[in-house]
Amino acid sequence: MSLRVLLVGATGAVGRAVLTQALADPRVAQVVALTRRPLAAATKLTNVVVDFDNLPADATWWKVDAVVCTLGTTRRAAGSNEKFAAVDRDLPLRIARLARAAGATRFALNSSLGADAASGNFYLRTKGEAEDAIRQLGYPGYTIVRPSLIDADRVESRPGEGLALIVARALNPLIPRRWKAVKPGAIARALREAALAPAPVSRVIESAELHATSAAG
Ligand SMILES: NC(=O)c1ccc[n+]([C@@H]2O[C@H](COP(=O)([O-])OP(=O)(O)OC[C@H]3O[C@@H](n4cnc5c(N)ncnc54)[C@H](OP(=O)(O)O)[C@@H]3O)[C@@H](O)[C@H]2O)c1
Repeated sequence: MSLRVLLVGATGAVGRAVLTQALADPRVAQVVALTRRPLAAATKLTNVVVDFDNLPADATWWKVDAVVCTLGTTRRAAGSNEKFAAVDRDLPLRIARLARAAGATRFALNSSLGADAASGNFYLRTKGEAEDAIRQLGYPGYTIVRPSLIDADRVESRPGEGLALIVARALNPLIPRRWKAVKPGAIARALREAALAPAPVSRVIESAELHATSAAG
């Protein structure tokens, strides 16, 4: 098997882990990473710096087997609910549509614990809407990974998340698996395996399932 994988979000905590794992994976022939800023060069990596507001529909690099999407922002960074939804829902959908039109058969989405289009919580509703909209595109293999709090060291200040992580790390053995913070490497592994499965499969992977493989973080 020799697959071409499109990765969006490669500069983020989970995306960096996906990139490292995918480049080391013998099943992967090429990783096409769409980013806003250049990545360090690597064997098998095609890095395309793009304007995500003006993605070219006819670019040849859409022709991949699988897409892994780890895009996301925060409402604080985005500045408004609408701008948050534009990154966490509308952009993944646009990318999914363009890659599907070019022949991609597998899509692996980094979503969130509790994602639900019917939720009263704006964040969870937006994540659920993204999941549902991409499902409508008819990918033969569509895997959604729903992590709890992501246990990553960040340069960017995220006060609420930082406090939650301190608590999560201190109380880790006492927290039920469903809510335990999860390492980027474990999320990346689930996304990568979904994207590279010998035959396309569709499933939702809840956060508790990620802990069986989280040790390598
Ligand atoms: N934080 C948590 O505890 C948590 C929990 C559950 C689920 N999640 C979800 O998990 C996913 C991945 O999380 P993460 O921690 O890896 O995220 P992250 O470290 O913040 O990385 C986000 C990625 O999205 C890109 N991005 C952000 N805004 C963009 C824009 N306007 N246009 C293009 N690219 C943009 C970033 O690119 P730049 O480097 O160019 O900014 C980066 O590559 C997100 O969808 C998040 O909502 C997070």
